[in-house]
Amino acid sequence: MSELDNRRFKFVEKMQPNSAALLFSGVSKIATEDEYYPFQVNNNFFYLTGIEQEHSALLIVKGFSEVKTYLFVDEYSELKEKWTGRRLTLDEAKQISDIENIYVYNQLDSMISVVFDANNNQYGKIDACYFDLSPEIKVGEELSLKNYVEKFRGQFPNIGIIDLYPLVRDLRMIKSRYEVDCIVKAIEETGRGINETLRKCKEGVFEYELAETFNHYGIMHGKRKLAFSTIVASGKNATCLHYPSQNAKVKDKDLILFDLGYKEAGYSADISRTYPVSGAFAGIAKSVYEAVLNCNKSVIEFARTGMTIADLQNHAIEVLTSECIRLKLISKDEDIKKYYYHNVSHHLGLDTHDISIRERPLENGNVITVEPGLYFANFNVGVRIEDDILFKDGKAVVLSNTIPKEIADIERLMGSR
Ligand code: GLY
Ligand code: MN
Ligand code: MN
Repeated sequence: MSELDNRRFKFVEKMQPNSAALLFSGVSKIATEDEYYPFQVNNNFFYLTGIEQEHSALLIVKGFSEVKTYLFVDEYSELKEKWTGRRLTLDEAKQISDIENIYVYNQLDSMISVVFDANNNQYGKIDACYFDLSPEIKVGEELSLKNYVEKFRGQFPNIGIIDLYPLVRDLRMIKSRYEVDCIVKAIEETGRGINETLRKCKEGVFEYELAETFNHYGIMHGKRKLAFSTIVASGKNATCLHYPSQNAKVKDKDLILFDLGYKEAGYSADISRTYPVSGAFAGIAKSVYEAVLNCNKSVIEFARTGMTIADLQNHAIEVLTSECIRLKLISKDEDIKKYYYHNVSHHLGLDTHDISIRERPLENGNVITVEPGLYFANFNVGVRIEDDILFKDGKAVVLSNTIPKEIADIERLMGSR
């Protein structure tokens, strides 16, 4: 069974008997007058179809004797092609999705009428329909999913409406071999992008030049999308977690924090590393770096299936607290909150902060980040070290160990610029 067939098979297993599911890719949102934001596919639709083209829909019918899967994509339009480029042919859509029954989008309404017609006995009586109710999806010009579902309710008042988000979330939380391979590829490319960026990382360069170097490397090596907006923050700027402006000139005495990642086939890498611009760690910056590194390694060592992300966070706080007390950076345990003010982990996948239940005990197949940090604005020092890990055989496997984090390895890397 193909990867996509397998995902749909597991999804259908979770659907109640005599039900259907209708998912939309979404369409681009208007930015101004005739300009659109870049299209971002609904990831639950993408997860089940592999299709990243706007104005597409997936209909799965779990009838009394058979399961039917239909994909709807835009029909060929000479005019649309002249304005916005070519679309997938029906055959291409079939190849990508592994779905046999491909229709043009404007046949969706008539198919819906047939499927939910109480007198139709092709599928038996379908009495519920799943929709992806959690995010706000725009499914057509002037049409949000909310409006669509209201219209559907009016047309089929006896059909129950169920949110499919929890079903797909549970599937997406456990990564397949293919998904892990995509994340590893994204991480490896991210590592190459970091190396390229470090070559330019010298006194006098602007943070935005470094961020753009990373972004450009991704474009020039496979037209890679970013997992999120690249963060490059030097000196005190690194104490702002999602530092947006990136307008500062880098100084030789600074540490510089990179938090960045490319995507591979939709899957994100999410990596943070912190480097000494001069090439060598020294003084308080070195002590803070070692404290964060000890914490990063300790959390990875400690992590086991059955724990929750809150357990990892508590462990991170314990380690950072004892490191900071040892270094006399704090004198009371509770002061750690002033210098460590975010969570240590989140799930990672198609979304960088992937859909999940954070409170659910960790399981084999989960991929999460481990990203402790310490931020001392008074010393102009912010350090975060973020790895991506997979749970396998009950323990953490580090997927990002191709990107150096040990002091000696980083200093060697900086020395070879
Ligand atoms: N780059 C965002 C995060 O690390 O969660
Ligand atoms: Mn990150
Ligand atoms: Mn992260």
